[in-house]
Amino acid sequence: MAVYMCRAVLPAHAGPRGELGAGPLLRWMDAAACLAAEKHAGVSCVTASMDDIQFEEAARVGQIIAIRTKVNRAFKTSMEVGIKVTVQDVLTNAEKIVSVAHATYVAKPVGGGKIELKPVQLLSAEDHLEHSLAIERRRIRLGYVQVFQKLMQESNKEDTCEEKDAVSTEHTHVQSTELVLPPHANHHGNTFGGQIMAWMQTVASISASRLCRSHPILKAVNMFKFWGPSFVGDRLVFNAIVNNTFHNSVEVGVRVEAYNCEEWIQDQPRHINSAFLIFNALDDKGELLTFPRVKPTTQDGVRRYHGAIARRRILLTRKCMLSAKGDKPSDAWETSNQAYLSYSNIAALTHLAGKPGWDITKTLDNVKIWTHEEGAVLSFKVEMQVKVPSHVAFSLLSDFSLRQRWDRHFLTCEVLQAVSEEEKIYHVTSGPTAGHQPRDFVILVSQRQPCQPQEPYTVAVRSVTLRAMPPRPEFCRSEILCAGFQIHSNSSSSCTVSNPAGPSCAPCPGAVTSPELRLQREQPNTSKKGVQSGCVGSVWPNFDC
Ligand code: COA
Ligand code: ADP
Repeated sequence: MAVYMCRAVLPAHAGPRGELGAGPLLRWMDAAACLAAEKHAGVSCVTASMDDIQFEEAARVGQIIAIRTKVNRAFKTSMEVGIKVTVQDVLTNAEKIVSVAHATYVAKPVGGGKIELKPVQLLSAEDHLEHSLAIERRRIRLGYVQVFQKLMQESNKEDTCEEKDAVSTEHTHVQSTELVLPPHANHHGNTFGGQIMAWMQTVASISASRLCRSHPILKAVNMFKFWGPSFVGDRLVFNAIVNNTFHNSVEVGVRVEAYNCEEWIQDQPRHINSAFLIFNALDDKGELLTFPRVKPTTQDGVRRYHGAIARRRILLTRKCMLSAKGDKPSDAWETSNQAYLSYSNIAALTHLAGKPGWDITKTLDNVKIWTHEEGAVLSFKVEMQVKVPSHVAFSLLSDFSLRQRWDRHFLTCEVLQAVSEEEKIYHVTSGPTAGHQPRDFVILVSQRQPCQPQEPYTVAVRSVTLRAMPPRPEFCRSEILCAGFQIHSNSSSSCTVSNPAGPSCAPCPGAVTSPELRLQREQPNTSKKGVQSGCVGSVWPNFDC
């Protein structure tokens, strides 16, 4: 059910640098994504929100932009659409990724009311993966405001810039008014979200240029929501100002208010959207310009200055987490990255379990052992049929404080932070093995129940760093990069438990680090009592009891 759109980049689409302007690109992305949403919903749809967008590559006049959009998951009335934009060079055939983005669309049947969307048909492994991850991205999206507010509370304690050469932003204020005409709207008269984004970027770009005295290049747009609709005949007033600068980039905020004729006279605006855009600029030699520090002069200015810092922290965290391949040591658990760490925990396990190319290396009664080789990276998976309902297996495997009862390699297991019902941070110690020091782990355990019957229960485990629990001399701090359990229900009384584990970091020479990985390194013995074998993590609970 994908929708493809191709556009040749013409001079009319380009900015002063001869590169495709962000305005037309945002319009095309929204139009292609809206078509995918409508193809799935069968009724017209509106843009509800757009996740953070980063632009990696510029397109020049003469090149081709290819956009592929697809509904990843339908929730109730809303659906997530994945948008992949590439640029193709007609002369060399080379293709590069410009951006990968996610937007949410809501079905709006004619005459109002709501419709419940049908589920998306999943045909490929990629469809399954994106479907699983879409629910995780929705958590991040819907929790964004709380994360932002928490960061704002923290950053308000920090001082604003006191640098002597810091400049005021007053001269970067830009106001522009647009009349919504039929070409700016769909066949029901609803303004296209992409059109509003294009207008916003024009105004924001003018605002940024007043600070850098150059032609700014749009690098990213922060996550935003369309609060309310606007229609043909509405007047849209855009107000933009620079909120803050960060060495080579500047954040411009834009607020959009809509008025119909009566509201215009009575000065009763409808706030329909606010967005925050990040620009770079180049000097004559093509080097990144350094922006001057800014000095807010009003109360609103100070609040927005801190808001920009909080948004930047979220944006950088997101970029870092989502581009991580699950092969780097643990990240610190902080306000700005908690949602993304949980996402990456679940995403890494789902990715690993769903990879093509798992080979069965051993089958023992009801247990299968799989390996996966990718270059020098070896991953393991043990799969076991058990005669207990899936929810029982889940409650046993997800509660790590119970684990000492069935895994003798868990010497101690203490909850350090019960972040929520679904996220807990544990400190685990295990005894010394064959001449090695005792080891300890600080792990984030993320647990998820299925949203639909065919989905698995998931328990994902990865190491994190907590300031409150630094490494101690008596333990060798060890790392789990990706491990956990997926539990698929087979019937009301049986399920399949699989335990994938990726490669592990071993800061102590020779130390085998991940309890879950060690599970895989041992060959489990099978017995009537379940699976037992001899080292950390290589013990499964006795499901039969
Ligand atoms: N990001 C993603 N989805 C969001 C969201 C956000 N920031 N805010 C709400 N939603 C989802 C809800 O989760 C819900 O999904 P579900 O039914 O699948 O569970 C759905 O949107 C409806 O939410 P609800 O709370 O019932 O409605 P609402 O009163 O918040 O309205 C919109 C949401 C999007 C319909 C409404 O704000 C709107 O009409 N916005 C303008 C849309 C538009 O015209 N866009 C084009 C540019 S003007
Ligand atoms: P906030 O003030 O919390 O950032 P708003 O939705 O009011 O949220 O505004 C979003 C952004 O739009 C602001 O951060 C600012 O950059 C810009 N903005 C809002 N109002 C004005 C205005 N009157 N003049 C110039 N820019 C404005």
